[in-house]
Amino acid sequence: MNTALRTTVLRVHRWTGLTLGLLFAYVALTGLGMVFQRQLQPLLEHDLREVSSCAARLPLDTLVDGARAFHPGSRVSQIEVLGGGSGTTIVRFADKEGVYMHPCSGTVLGQQHRWGGLFGTLEQLHRLKFIDNSDVTELITGTTSIVLALVMIGGGLLVWWPPGLKALRSAATLRPHLKGRAFLLNLHRTTGLYVALVLLMSALTSMTFTFPWARQAVFSLAGSPMPPPKPALESKPAAAPMAMETLLKRALASVPDADQVMIQLPRKPLDAVEIYAVERDAPHPNARTTIYMDPYTGDVMRFEPYATSSAGNKAYRWLASLHMGQIGGVPGQLLLFAGVLGLPVLGYTGIASYLRRRFPARAEASGLKARVNRISSETPGIKVFELVSATSTPLPAVSPGAHIDVRIDEDLVRQYSLCNGPEDRDKYLIAVKREPDSRGGSRALHERVSEGDILSIGAPRNHFALAPDAPHHLLLAGGIGITPILAMARHLQADGTSFALQYFTRSVGETAFHGFLSRPELRGKVVFHYALDPHGLRLYLQRLLQERPPGAHLYVCGPRPFMDLVEETAAASWPAEAVHAEYFSADPMAFAGPRAPFEVMLALTGGTYPVPGDKTIVEALAAHGVEIQTACEQGVCGTCITGLLDGVPDHRDAYLSEAERRACDKILPCVSRARGKLLVLDL
Ligand code: FES
Repeated sequence: MNTALRTTVLRVHRWTGLTLGLLFAYVALTGLGMVFQRQLQPLLEHDLREVSSCAARLPLDTLVDGARAFHPGSRVSQIEVLGGGSGTTIVRFADKEGVYMHPCSGTVLGQQHRWGGLFGTLEQLHRLKFIDNSDVTELITGTTSIVLALVMIGGGLLVWWPPGLKALRSAATLRPHLKGRAFLLNLHRTTGLYVALVLLMSALTSMTFTFPWARQAVFSLAGSPMPPPKPALESKPAAAPMAMETLLKRALASVPDADQVMIQLPRKPLDAVEIYAVERDAPHPNARTTIYMDPYTGDVMRFEPYATSSAGNKAYRWLASLHMGQIGGVPGQLLLFAGVLGLPVLGYTGIASYLRRRFPARAEASGLKARVNRISSETPGIKVFELVSATSTPLPAVSPGAHIDVRIDEDLVRQYSLCNGPEDRDKYLIAVKREPDSRGGSRALHERVSEGDILSIGAPRNHFALAPDAPHHLLLAGGIGITPILAMARHLQADGTSFALQYFTRSVGETAFHGFLSRPELRGKVVFHYALDPHGLRLYLQRLLQERPPGAHLYVCGPRPFMDLVEETAAASWPAEAVHAEYFSADPMAFAGPRAPFEVMLALTGGTYPVPGDKTIVEALAAHGVEIQTACEQGVCGTCITGLLDGVPDHRDAYLSEAERRACDKILPCVSRARGKLLVLDL
């Protein structure tokens, strides 16, 4: 399917979902009550349906007379004999009232309208029987079935049907670790795939008893002729109709093992009596044997046993039972139940995902406004900005190692680690080094931001947290990498947890927080290193990291080469899970290395777009009007993280952990690329 058509189908699916979704939920929820009617009705309508032992049944005519006396003034239209005669006998009248009779004592157990009680009400609602025009009702229920089945479910399946087998497995897998809209879409699609089959079945099976043409289609597909019209009497005899007990006995003689018998009394003088019987061991509750009887002679005019009826009739009846959840026993009922439960999930995820796409700023932004309260200089090139809430809303709490996004300009968002100690509850402290090759962030903060200015910031995020149970922490900072390390040291010092801080800078004059870290209480815990050459640094790190103190964790932040060297050196004796790194600059390979062109497909629309060698995925998609929210555009902040459904990624970011990279189910499209020809993104 081409992109334009897919987009149109998606739009129609979305709007029918938003408008008809409620109707769909209404039909499904009311139908759900009926699915469990078999188990619940004996419990909830115990007084009407439970009959204490009944050995000798009264004649049916006596029971009908008793019911008539209880509810005079209306014609008896139908009699239901339950439990093969030993259960309640329900006498229904033309005004839809039903009188429940004890079959042995003839006492009235109660009276209930056809659409009364819990199940009668649910059925009335489900079948829109409160609309007093059967043509309108059938039109609405039938049209609804078709619209819902073809437009909503069919459209959804069409739009999201994965492009390949591997992608199908991936698309049908729930991945709770995804975040934001990617998670909503994943949940919507996986729930939709599982639920659509159930609901599609319900909608399609409802059509067979709503539309005569659908019933005819079932018979035609089964290769069976349509049943002949009901037989009718040639003339009305002078004799009175036979006793109903006689008719019942003749029916029971034809179907000796009948569990339920329903006798429809003639409406017109020449109509036959129509009797339905369902045997105890019937394959399903709609496996009806039909008997047409002459009401005046009791002669059987036509006998249609279910077992020998046509394939078309069996299919039609089976589909009716399937629709009512009466096939497959309790597992079949639970399948329908799960299908209905999925509806609110589909509704929520569909609407939430739409709103997030439509109003990304409102949904994603933390909306924090901070006032620059104080700016101080730590070194000639490093300024510390103290930010306080610019509104009455207090700033969210901070954990050591956290960073925040700072929106400097409309298109300029940068991440800065917080230096906060445990006592800094009402402010955020960030230290910013003016980088000579700044891409705009540090220069703008140094040159354009003054005390009193209001900045938009994000809520703190932390993927550089302290290991909570480690008995010792080794903190390594290079240059401005001291910022999250300082926060860690301050918290560990306050907690009394064992730690050591090794701080590498070019000179004392360029060492931020030198005064603070030289305090007497930190003596013996902080070691400063100035102007170590690469060889000296390597030798020192080899000595420092050659043995890991039992249970210790290592944390490193600083310039990229420094961090790479620490990680490389630690790899010999520190397990990967005990080494934590906070990157604030891109992997040098992020924009280098082979940059072969490839294609990305958007799972949502099926649109496929080329990504040339000189463009990132974000840039290539933006050229086609597909926006992905970004901040650093260097693969370090995680803002652009996107679900990956298929294809092999070439991860070039500094954000994902090794385990996340191996899972191959998300990608940072601001830098990462593909190892093959195609990536399918969860967008
Ligand atoms: Fe920051 Fe992609 S925008 S990782």
